[in-house]
Amino acid sequence: MCGIVGYVGSEPLISYLLSGLSKLEYRGYDSAGVAVHTGDSIKIFKAQGKLDNLKNILRDKCEAGVKTLSGDAQGAAMQGFNSFKTSEEKAKIGIGHIRWATHGIPNEINAHPHVSPESKVALVHNGIIENYKEIKEELIAKGFEFKSQTDTEVIAHLVEDCLRNTNNFGQALRCALKKLDGAYALGVIFMDDPDTLYAAKKSAPLIIGLSDKGNYIASDIPAILEYTKKVIYLDDFEIAEIKENSVKIFDIEGNKIDKKYEIVPWEPVSVNKMGYKHFMLKEIHEQPDVIRQTLFNRLICSSEPIKLDEVKLTAENLKNLDRIQIIACGTSLHAALIGKYLIEEFIGIPVEVEASSEYIYKRVISNSNSLTIGVSQSGETADTITAIKLAKEKGSHVLVVTNRPDSTMARLADSLLPINAGFEVSVAATKSYTAQVLAFYLLALKLAEVNGSLPSEKLEEYKKQLLQLPQKVEMILNNKKEIHACAIKFHNAKNFIFVARGINYPVALEGALKLKEISYINATGYPAGELKHGPIAMLDETMPVVSILTPGKVYEKVLSNSEESKAREARMIAITSVNDSKLDSIFEYIIKIPQTDELFSPILTTIPLQLLAYYIAEFLGKDVDQPRNLAKSVTVE
Ligand code: AGP
Repeated sequence: MCGIVGYVGSEPLISYLLSGLSKLEYRGYDSAGVAVHTGDSIKIFKAQGKLDNLKNILRDKCEAGVKTLSGDAQGAAMQGFNSFKTSEEKAKIGIGHIRWATHGIPNEINAHPHVSPESKVALVHNGIIENYKEIKEELIAKGFEFKSQTDTEVIAHLVEDCLRNTNNFGQALRCALKKLDGAYALGVIFMDDPDTLYAAKKSAPLIIGLSDKGNYIASDIPAILEYTKKVIYLDDFEIAEIKENSVKIFDIEGNKIDKKYEIVPWEPVSVNKMGYKHFMLKEIHEQPDVIRQTLFNRLICSSEPIKLDEVKLTAENLKNLDRIQIIACGTSLHAALIGKYLIEEFIGIPVEVEASSEYIYKRVISNSNSLTIGVSQSGETADTITAIKLAKEKGSHVLVVTNRPDSTMARLADSLLPINAGFEVSVAATKSYTAQVLAFYLLALKLAEVNGSLPSEKLEEYKKQLLQLPQKVEMILNNKKEIHACAIKFHNAKNFIFVARGINYPVALEGALKLKEISYINATGYPAGELKHGPIAMLDETMPVVSILTPGKVYEKVLSNSEESKAREARMIAITSVNDSKLDSIFEYIIKIPQTDELFSPILTTIPLQLLAYYIAEFLGKDVDQPRNLAKSVTVE
């Protein structure tokens, strides 16, 4: 996580650094900082906490701004920064950082940029330096002093140490990089090289934006989209020397590399809440359209085959598949578990689902007859990227399901299945999960079509179910008052248990994750049948148990498990489409969803749980869109 930006050119520097960082706030919000080269010195501004704190510091520095700014209006603030009436006004080169703390607490000292002892080097870093302790000890032995607890500070010191043996700045940087183990995306400026912005990358994303008005670096495209669509994707072990009118790229040995730029096919995304109190609530409400968008051109009517041209496996390859592995993290992992259920049910091929962080530390069993599916909203989750690389090394075809077709994972993929959920701002994933689950329905049904594993009437019936989903989701959203009332009733609970069986078991996991990540209430998801093997000991009159019951194979079983919980005086909540008088005696609260086949229920059962988590967190006054300790894109392993 962490986000970095940099700019060299004659446009208002601070404006770009701040607006770029504001587009990267999803990557962390523990602290923010910028460094600008004023010609005779490098000035650093840092603040603990969100970017607004840094903006306030800079606003105080801005003479003209102080007079003209009113309130917190960001537009006015940006105008204030444009007329920065101090020596920073002359600055043409600068770097910025937004932090998600890994080494050292989130305070001002640990905030980036970090500076070398003689202030010859300032840099910002995204990633983790694994051997920083050893390097730090060596540098301390040489007389270097450290101020922060970060791994990043060692890089600044190391570069300054290398500068003792050369006055070539690029060479000094390369000398330092060769000593680093781990991941880095770096933006570096040198006191004695006031015209050049240096950038380097290994295992963390970094792009260079090219324009007539100077050149940019950033961790992600939205940070530069307002200024340019011409982008160079830096690859691992590449180092860029960027001036106002030129960009040169070298490998780690200093050999020049020719790289072409690409035009990003995006328009600047204007992200606003459209009247909703939080992005999360807005994104929950976007789900009917997200479903339509993901189905668009892929499933037109139930009597026609599904179009999934993005999957580059031939019909022959698909028939020969002997193993499917799905790798993902967090909410994407829960979508993957639903995918496993669907593929096994529709095609009968064994599917394994694994958390990427576990997959990468065990023997990888894949070959050319296996398909590995990586699922990720951001396409930048470090563990999933490593897992995908390992699967590729073993010869497996890699299909990536992501919301970011421009991401690192998308570029590694043999086949890319974009999910079209649109930009998701809230750290808690909602609409991207729904689109991922939908992508698995499409994939599983496509595989069933190719393999002939489902009778044509069943296929047609299933496709009809998919086409009906948007309206059914709208019905749930129209009924949200009921969920709001339930949230108010239960918001004081200290713990929650979510239970389900079969295809809805991953929904229980997702309901628990949503609640804990935004409300900080302890919540756990279990297969309902597992309660009696231990967790039932936790039940008493203070424990809410949310049971997911849809008509089908496991309905009666979940109902019995719910009765067992009720018998232990737990406070029972049902998410159900069933009209069954038996429910009234068990459940204190019944949240109804539209009638649906059990196999097609997980999207419909998840949405009330998203809303329940949202309303509880909102009622408790939590920072719903930016929960503590989290970041939208987890770019460290
Ligand atoms: C979801 O609400 C979480 N914030 C988190 O679990 C997330 O799903 C996980 O970090 C994976 O991210 P990805 O989908 O971008 O790979």
